[in-house]
Order: sequence, then C-alpha cells, then structure tokens
Amino acid sequence: MENIVVLTGAGISAESGLSTFRDSGGLWEQYNVYEVATPEAWEKDQNLVLDFYNQRRKQVLEAEPNAAHYALASLEEKFNVTIITQNVDNLHERAGSTNIIHLHGEITKSQSSVDASLVYDIDDWELKSGNTCEKGSQLRPHIVWFGEAVPKMTDATVITESADKLIVIGTSLNVYPAAGLIDVAGKEIDKYLIDPGEMSVGGVDNLTIIKEKASTGVPKLAEKLLANACA
Ligand code: APR
Repeated sequence: MENIVVLTGAGISAESGLSTFRDSGGLWEQYNVYEVATPEAWEKDQNLVLDFYNQRRKQVLEAEPNAAHYALASLEEKFNVTIITQNVDNLHERAGSTNIIHLHGEITKSQSSVDASLVYDIDDWELKSGNTCEKGSQLRPHIVWFGEAVPKMTDATVITESADKLIVIGTSLNVYPAAGLIDVAGKEIDKYLIDPGEMSVGGVDNLTIIKEKASTGVPKLAEKLLANACA
C-alpha cells in the first residue's frame, strides 16, 4: 500500500466551528499569543493560560468532525495514512483516523510542569489551579508553546521523507518547523494543497492547489485517490 502523509492545520477544523489563528477574527486577533501560549505566559499568569485553554477545550468537546476529517479516515481503506497535524483538537481521532502525530500537542491532555514525560487525560473540560501531577506540581496544558521544542518533529520528518503522496490541508504554512514539511517530501511525488485562501507556495514540485474549503475539497480528492488505487 502506498504511504499518504497528510499535514493539517486549523483550517480543517474551521467548518467544525473551531477558530483558526490567522484568518480575520482568528484567535490571534482575540488574544495576545505572548500572554496565553508561551512558557513566559505560564510563569506570569497560570490562571489566564488555564482559562484560555479551558475555553478552547470546551469548544473542542462541543465540536464534531466534518466531512474532511471523515474523508481522511476513509483513505485508510487503501493507503497507509499518517496524519501529521498542527491541531490540538481530537477531531481526526473522533473521525476514525488511526495514525496521528500531534506536532503541537493535544488539548484534551495535561502534562506535569516539572516533567514533560508525565502526560494525563483531562476527563472534563477544565484543568484547574491545584490539579497536580504525581510529583505534586501544577498540571499545565499538553501543548507545545511558542519558543518550545517540537518533540515529534523528527518522527514527522522521517515519515514525510518516505511519503508516496502528500496532502496539505488548512494551514497558512506560517509556523516552522511544521511548515517545512512540505519541502521535506520527495520532489517527484504528487502533492495536493487544499485551502480556500490565496496560497503562495513557491518552489514545490508536483503541487496541485485545490482552492476549496476542506469539507468539499478533501472528500473529492479522497474519492479520486481511492478510485485510482482500485484501478
Ligand atoms: N477549509 C480549509 N482551509 C481553511 C478553511 C476551510 N474551511 N478556512 C480557513 N482555512 C485556511 C486559511 O486560509 C489558512 O490558510 O486555514 C489556514 C489557517 O491558517 P492559520 O490560522 O495560520 O492556522 P495554522 O496554519 O494551523 O497555524 C499553525 O500556528 O499559532 C500556531 O500552534 C498554532 O498550530 C498552529 C500554528
């Protein structure tokens, strides 16, 4: 079976009702990223950071996967699919995808603030001040904040290097190292970029830009790939 690697960003969850970051009205217009999504922010005001992620976690739990998430899950019938997502929501899992790398963490999990290897599920929507890890330290969101290393980037790079097809969905390709994955894929393989916005992606070989929303563009592409795989 061919290896398909899918790089997703906030745009794939937009039609599930979750805000993107850099579209008009996006999260970074509503919040100062340096006050809610950096280690310094956590040191300065843990409650503000906890509340920012509690509000987003509540929205994630109330959201549903959309047709794009389900279409990606259906690709597993005929392909080895790895979803490499920048998203911290769990919509890919809930749509049935089984091989997911969360580069920027998972909003439904917490981690120890003294030992990042200690990761816990958050049962409800709230992570509260006073919730501690087994070492007694305050639990923080299991999110890769700006300025922190991206622990799963090596795995993501190795997998992308061996992709037979690359699909990029709903990301402005603004944030590195994740955005660099499009340049890691083999020059000769077919690449698809699905985004309704104006995307300027220079110097990428064999790239087909599909200027559509994820909920329509992804199912159409998945259908085509599955049909060709049968042929
Ligand atoms: N379908 C597909 N794409 C969409 C849709 C949609 N319905 N709506 C918007 N988009 C596209 C936008 O055109 C844009 O290209 O989704 C992209 C969203 O870009 P960003 O808001 O920058 O989100 P993302 O690329 O995921 O950000 C990367 O930045 O702030 C950090 O950690 C955060 O993981 C995030 C990273």
